Amino acid sequence: VDAPRTALLPAPVPLPIPYPVFVRAGVVDQLHAIVDAVAPAHRYAIISDLSVASHHAAAVQRQFPTDRTRLFTIPPGEHEKTRARWAELTDALLDWGAGRDTTVVALGGGVVGDLAGFVAATYMRGIPVVQVPTTLLAMVDASVGGKTAVDTPQGKNLVGAFHDPRAVVMDPALLATLSLPDLRSGLAEMIKHGVLADRAYFDALLVALPDIRALGAHAPQFASLIAGSVAIKAAVVAEDHKEHGRRQTLNFGHTIAHAIERVLEYRILHGEAVAIGMIVEARLAERLKIAEPGTADTVESIVRTAGLPAAIPRHIAAAELLAATRGDKKNRAGGVRYSLPCSIGNMDSADGSWSVAVEDSVVRDVLA
Ligand SMILES: NC(=O)c1ccc[n+]([C@@H]2O[C@H](COP(=O)([O-])OP(=O)(O)OC[C@H]3O[C@@H](n4cnc5c(N)ncnc54)[C@H](O)[C@@H]3O)[C@@H](O)[C@H]2O)c1
Ligand SMILES: [Zn+2]
Repeated sequence: VDAPRTALLPAPVPLPIPYPVFVRAGVVDQLHAIVDAVAPAHRYAIISDLSVASHHAAAVQRQFPTDRTRLFTIPPGEHEKTRARWAELTDALLDWGAGRDTTVVALGGGVVGDLAGFVAATYMRGIPVVQVPTTLLAMVDASVGGKTAVDTPQGKNLVGAFHDPRAVVMDPALLATLSLPDLRSGLAEMIKHGVLADRAYFDALLVALPDIRALGAHAPQFASLIAGSVAIKAAVVAEDHKEHGRRQTLNFGHTIAHAIERVLEYRILHGEAVAIGMIVEARLAERLKIAEPGTADTVESIVRTAGLPAAIPRHIAAAELLAATRGDKKNRAGGVRYSLPCSIGNMDSADGSWSVAVEDSVVRDVLA
């Protein structure tokens, strides 16, 4: 982004990635200026879901020229992140006459971000997208890193592309309309970032959690905590864009979380499953003598302070969960692989592979 065009914009968070990330309460009011600086276009396609749009689309839409801007919506929910919705959106763009000089504005949670990102990645072989995440999870996780995808009946995120956004615009004020469970779900990924990279960040989050529980999205620490979390994710992604090495550490807690989600047929929020998964995997790391004693208790304690669930739901049998860990696309043939911490703020590099295969019997012991 060249200097003159961004002169009047807020300062982005300094990050080692090739696109600016803006984090500030009220920054969404400057969205049009930001979009025009990073992805000037003839037409603007705002893609959102109906819930998010009912709260926030008007404030975004009115910044853009009426005759060259259109709002496209899908119903809310993970089950809408499909090839069918991708086809419907791309057809709608074609019918509208959108050309390569169109910029997509993805206004929503991770579902909209992934789907609209995939539309942008594929439309006329790729057009710019600016991500405007509206959930905490999408801010601290989904909107940075350039992964886009849709789900298929065989599993989640199985068809997609890497397509970096031109900018990411995060306005904590948008979180005021988010449900409390969805807000807490995002906290789990922030805890994960602290565990995998930064003890000081972990401690800052712990100190802020009582305020966050009392004030929700209005907690004053949100902007800096979101920026801190994004900085951790961006550093990992910058080192390993396509997930061969260190990017796997972002998977901490997720092998178990994905298994829980699969067993419960996704009737649990992702962050809730991650919260439980981080505790189980930290215990696994202690059992394998990879993690310092006490690591798992520290993880469990912050999870409880955040108001997230800390135990595997009683009706899930260990055998069933174990079987479900084998269904993860990230598990190559052989043992199921885990990315494990050595302490709060440090992950086990496992000689550069950043994950270890763990025998089922060890996992079974820990689950028991
Ligand atoms: N691309 C990546 O790197 C990446 C990383 C993590 C997760 N993801 C994806 O993200 C998705 C989950 O994201 P999510 O948790 O944001 O789910 P989501 O997009 O479904 O949003 C959750 C719910 O909150 C509503 N909502 C969103 N913002 C709101 C707001 N400000 N006010 C009121 N309601 C609002 C939505 O309508 C939805 O009902 C999954 O599909 C997952 O695969 C992608
Ligand atoms: Zn996650």
